[in-house]
Amino acid sequence: MVVAIDGPAGAGKSSAARGVARALGFSYLDSGAMYRCVALLAIEGGVGPARAAQALEVSPGERVLLAGRDVTDRIRTAEVSQAASRVAADPDVRAALVEHQRRLLSQGDWVAEGRDIATVVAPDAEVKVFLTATDAERARRRALELRASPERVLAEQRVRDERDRTRRDSPLVPAAAATVLDTTELDLDTVIARVCDLVGRRSQAS
Ligand code: DC
Repeated sequence: MVVAIDGPAGAGKSSAARGVARALGFSYLDSGAMYRCVALLAIEGGVGPARAAQALEVSPGERVLLAGRDVTDRIRTAEVSQAASRVAADPDVRAALVEHQRRLLSQGDWVAEGRDIATVVAPDAEVKVFLTATDAERARRRALELRASPERVLAEQRVRDERDRTRRDSPLVPAAAATVLDTTELDLDTVIARVCDLVGRRSQAS
Protein backbone atom coordinates (compact mmCIF):
# COMPACT_ATOMS: atom_id res chain seq x y z
CA MET A 1 0.00 0.00 0.00
CA VAL A 2 1.11 3.58 -0.63
CA VAL A 3 -0.05 6.42 1.62
CA ALA A 4 0.68 9.71 -0.19
CA ILE A 5 1.04 12.84 1.92
CA ASP A 6 1.49 16.05 -0.07
CA GLY A 7 1.37 19.72 0.85
CA PRO A 8 3.41 22.90 1.21
CA ALA A 9 6.43 23.39 3.50
CA GLY A 10 5.55 23.59 7.17
CA ALA A 11 2.13 21.93 6.88
CA GLY A 12 3.45 19.14 9.09
CA LYS A 13 4.04 16.53 6.39
CA SER A 14 7.35 15.14 7.68
CA SER A 15 6.26 14.69 11.29
CA ALA A 16 2.91 13.27 10.24
CA ALA A 17 4.39 10.94 7.61
CA ARG A 18 7.04 9.64 10.03
CA GLY A 19 4.42 9.13 12.75
CA VAL A 20 2.04 7.30 10.42
CA ALA A 21 4.86 5.10 9.07
CA ARG A 22 5.90 4.18 12.62
CA ALA A 23 2.31 3.53 13.73
CA LEU A 24 1.61 1.25 10.76
CA GLY A 25 5.06 -0.34 10.39
CA PHE A 26 5.38 1.07 6.84
CA SER A 27 8.59 2.40 5.25
CA TYR A 28 8.95 6.19 5.06
CA LEU A 29 9.95 8.10 1.94
CA ASP A 30 10.89 11.79 2.22
CA SER A 31 10.92 12.78 -1.46
CA GLY A 32 11.89 16.38 -0.61
CA ALA A 33 15.17 15.03 0.80
CA MET A 34 16.01 13.77 -2.70
CA TYR A 35 15.51 17.25 -4.22
CA ARG A 36 17.59 18.66 -1.37
CA CYS A 37 20.41 16.17 -2.06
CA VAL A 38 20.46 17.14 -5.74
CA ALA A 39 20.65 20.80 -4.68
CA LEU A 40 23.49 20.06 -2.25
CA LEU A 41 25.49 18.26 -4.93
CA ALA A 42 24.94 21.19 -7.33
CA ILE A 43 26.06 23.68 -4.64
CA GLU A 44 29.17 21.63 -3.88
CA GLY A 45 30.01 21.91 -7.57
CA GLY A 46 31.33 19.67 -10.27
CA VAL A 47 27.99 18.30 -11.40
CA GLY A 48 24.82 19.88 -12.82
CA PRO A 49 21.44 19.17 -11.18
CA ALA A 50 20.13 16.87 -13.94
CA ARG A 51 23.29 14.70 -13.89
CA ALA A 52 23.24 14.69 -10.08
CA ALA A 53 19.61 13.51 -10.11
CA GLN A 54 20.31 10.72 -12.60
CA ALA A 55 23.26 9.41 -10.59
CA LEU A 56 21.76 10.02 -7.16
CA GLU A 57 22.66 7.37 -4.62
CA VAL A 58 20.47 8.26 -1.70
CA SER A 59 18.58 6.56 1.11
CA PRO A 60 15.89 9.11 1.97
CA GLY A 61 14.61 7.68 5.28
CA GLU A 62 14.85 9.01 8.83
CA ARG A 63 18.60 9.75 8.34
CA VAL A 64 19.47 10.83 4.82
CA LEU A 65 22.55 9.11 3.41
CA LEU A 66 24.00 10.56 0.21
CA ALA A 67 26.43 8.03 -1.26
CA GLY A 68 27.02 6.85 2.31
CA ARG A 69 27.52 10.38 3.76
CA ASP A 70 25.01 11.47 6.44
CA VAL A 71 23.66 14.81 5.14
CA THR A 72 20.50 14.92 7.28
CA ASP A 73 21.36 18.29 8.87
CA ARG A 74 23.30 19.79 5.97
CA ILE A 75 20.30 19.55 3.59
CA ARG A 76 18.06 21.54 5.99
CA THR A 77 20.00 24.81 5.75
CA ALA A 78 18.30 27.88 4.21
CA GLU A 79 20.83 27.82 1.35
CA VAL A 80 19.95 24.24 0.39
CA SER A 81 16.19 24.91 0.85
CA GLN A 82 16.22 27.71 -1.69
CA ALA A 83 18.42 25.74 -4.10
CA ALA A 84 16.15 22.68 -3.75
CA SER A 85 13.12 24.71 -4.75
CA ARG A 86 15.04 25.87 -7.86
CA VAL A 87 16.27 22.42 -8.93
CA ALA A 88 12.75 21.03 -8.32
CA ALA A 89 11.51 23.21 -11.21
CA ASP A 90 13.89 21.45 -13.65
CA PRO A 91 11.91 18.82 -15.66
CA ASP A 92 15.02 16.62 -16.13
CA VAL A 93 15.62 16.55 -12.39
CA ARG A 94 11.97 15.72 -11.75
CA ALA A 95 11.89 12.93 -14.34
CA ALA A 96 14.95 11.24 -12.81
CA LEU A 97 13.73 11.55 -9.23
CA VAL A 98 10.16 10.46 -10.03
CA GLU A 99 11.53 7.32 -11.67
CA HIS A 100 13.71 6.67 -8.62
CA GLN A 101 10.73 7.19 -6.27
CA ARG A 102 8.45 4.92 -8.31
CA ARG A 103 11.07 2.18 -8.16
CA LEU A 104 11.24 2.46 -4.36
CA LEU A 105 7.45 2.51 -3.94
CA SER A 106 6.89 -0.48 -6.21
CA GLN A 107 7.61 -2.93 -3.40
CA GLY A 108 6.22 -3.04 0.12
CA ASP A 109 4.13 -0.60 2.13
CA TRP A 110 5.07 3.06 2.19
CA VAL A 111 4.18 6.44 3.57
CA ALA A 112 5.59 8.87 1.00
CA GLU A 113 5.59 12.62 1.47
CA GLY A 114 6.20 15.42 -1.02
CA ARG A 115 4.42 17.76 -3.41
CA ASP A 116 3.49 15.46 -6.30
CA ILE A 117 3.21 11.99 -4.77
CA ALA A 118 -0.55 11.62 -5.31
CA THR A 119 -0.63 13.55 -8.60
CA VAL A 120 2.46 12.22 -10.41
CA VAL A 121 4.65 9.72 -8.55
CA ALA A 122 1.92 7.37 -7.30
CA PRO A 123 -1.44 8.37 -8.82
CA ASP A 124 -2.76 4.92 -7.79
CA ALA A 125 -1.87 5.45 -4.12
CA GLU A 126 -4.55 3.86 -1.96
CA VAL A 127 -4.64 6.82 0.44
CA LYS A 128 -4.05 10.44 -0.60
CA VAL A 129 -3.80 13.24 1.93
CA PHE A 130 -3.09 16.92 1.28
CA LEU A 131 -1.95 18.72 4.42
CA THR A 132 -2.24 22.49 4.69
CA ALA A 133 -2.01 25.19 7.36
CA THR A 134 -2.13 28.97 7.26
CA ASP A 135 0.98 30.76 5.95
CA ALA A 136 1.67 32.30 9.38
CA GLU A 137 1.35 28.97 11.21
CA ARG A 138 3.59 27.18 8.72
CA ALA A 139 6.24 29.90 9.09
CA ARG A 140 5.94 29.78 12.89
CA ARG A 141 6.58 26.01 12.92
CA ARG A 142 9.53 26.22 10.54
CA ALA A 143 11.04 29.13 12.50
CA LEU A 144 10.88 27.11 15.73
CA GLU A 145 12.52 24.15 14.01
CA LEU A 146 15.28 26.26 12.43
CA ARG A 147 15.61 28.66 15.40
CA ALA A 148 15.16 31.52 12.90
CA SER A 149 13.00 34.63 12.87
CA PRO A 150 9.37 33.93 11.83
CA GLU A 151 9.35 37.04 9.61
CA ARG A 152 12.37 35.88 7.66
CA VAL A 153 11.04 32.34 7.36
CA LEU A 154 7.68 33.69 6.15
CA ALA A 155 9.36 35.81 3.47
CA GLU A 156 11.47 32.87 2.23
CA GLN A 157 8.49 30.54 2.42
CA ARG A 158 6.47 32.86 0.16
CA VAL A 159 9.18 32.72 -2.52
CA ARG A 160 9.35 28.91 -2.37
CA ASP A 161 5.55 28.48 -2.24
CA GLU A 162 5.12 30.67 -5.27
CA ARG A 163 7.76 28.71 -7.20
CA ASP A 164 6.30 25.31 -6.14
CA ARG A 165 2.74 26.33 -7.05
CA THR A 166 3.41 28.01 -10.38
CA ARG A 167 6.10 25.81 -11.91
CA ARG A 168 5.06 24.30 -15.23
CA ASP A 169 6.07 20.74 -14.34
CA SER A 170 4.07 19.12 -11.50
CA PRO A 171 2.92 22.26 -9.67
CA LEU A 172 1.85 21.82 -6.05
CA VAL A 173 -1.90 21.12 -6.17
CA PRO A 174 -4.09 18.67 -4.24
CA ALA A 175 -4.91 15.49 -6.20
CA ALA A 176 -8.57 15.24 -7.20
CA ALA A 177 -9.21 12.38 -4.78
CA ALA A 178 -7.09 13.71 -1.89
CA THR A 179 -8.47 14.30 1.59
CA VAL A 180 -7.50 17.87 2.48
CA LEU A 181 -6.53 18.26 6.13
CA ASP A 182 -5.93 21.74 7.57
CA THR A 183 -3.48 21.23 10.45
CA THR A 184 -3.45 24.85 11.71
CA GLU A 185 -5.45 23.97 14.83
CA LEU A 186 -4.50 20.29 15.09
CA ASP A 187 -1.75 18.73 17.17
CA LEU A 188 0.54 16.10 15.65
CA ASP A 189 -1.10 13.10 17.35
CA THR A 190 -4.50 14.13 15.97
CA VAL A 191 -3.11 14.46 12.43
CA ILE A 192 -1.45 11.02 12.70
CA ALA A 193 -4.65 9.49 14.06
CA ARG A 194 -6.73 11.00 11.23
CA VAL A 195 -4.40 9.64 8.55
CA CYS A 196 -4.25 6.20 10.21
CA ASP A 197 -8.05 6.26 10.30
CA LEU A 198 -8.16 6.91 6.54
CA VAL A 199 -5.77 3.98 6.01
CA GLY A 200 -7.93 1.73 8.22
CA ARG A 201 -11.06 2.65 6.29
CA ARG A 202 -9.33 2.07 2.96
CA SER A 203 -8.08 -1.35 4.11
CA GLN A 204 -11.59 -2.37 5.20
CA ALA A 205 -13.03 -1.23 1.87
CA SER A 206 -10.73 -3.47 -0.18
O1 DC B 1 9.55 19.01 1.45
P1 DC B 1 10.88 19.79 1.34
O2 DC B 1 10.77 21.17 1.90
O3 DC B 1 12.00 19.03 1.96
O4 DC B 1 11.15 19.91 -0.23
C1 DC B 1 12.29 20.56 -0.74
C2 DC B 1 11.97 21.18 -2.09
O5 DC B 1 11.73 20.16 -3.05
C3 DC B 1 10.75 22.10 -2.10
O6 DC B 1 11.05 23.32 -2.75
C4 DC B 1 9.72 21.37 -2.90
C5 DC B 1 10.49 20.38 -3.70
N1 DC B 1 9.79 19.09 -3.80
C6 DC B 1 9.11 18.81 -4.96
O7 DC B 1 9.08 19.66 -5.86
N2 DC B 1 8.50 17.61 -5.12
C7 DC B 1 8.52 16.70 -4.12
N3 DC B 1 7.91 15.53 -4.29
C8 DC B 1 9.19 16.99 -2.91
C9 DC B 1 9.80 18.21 -2.77
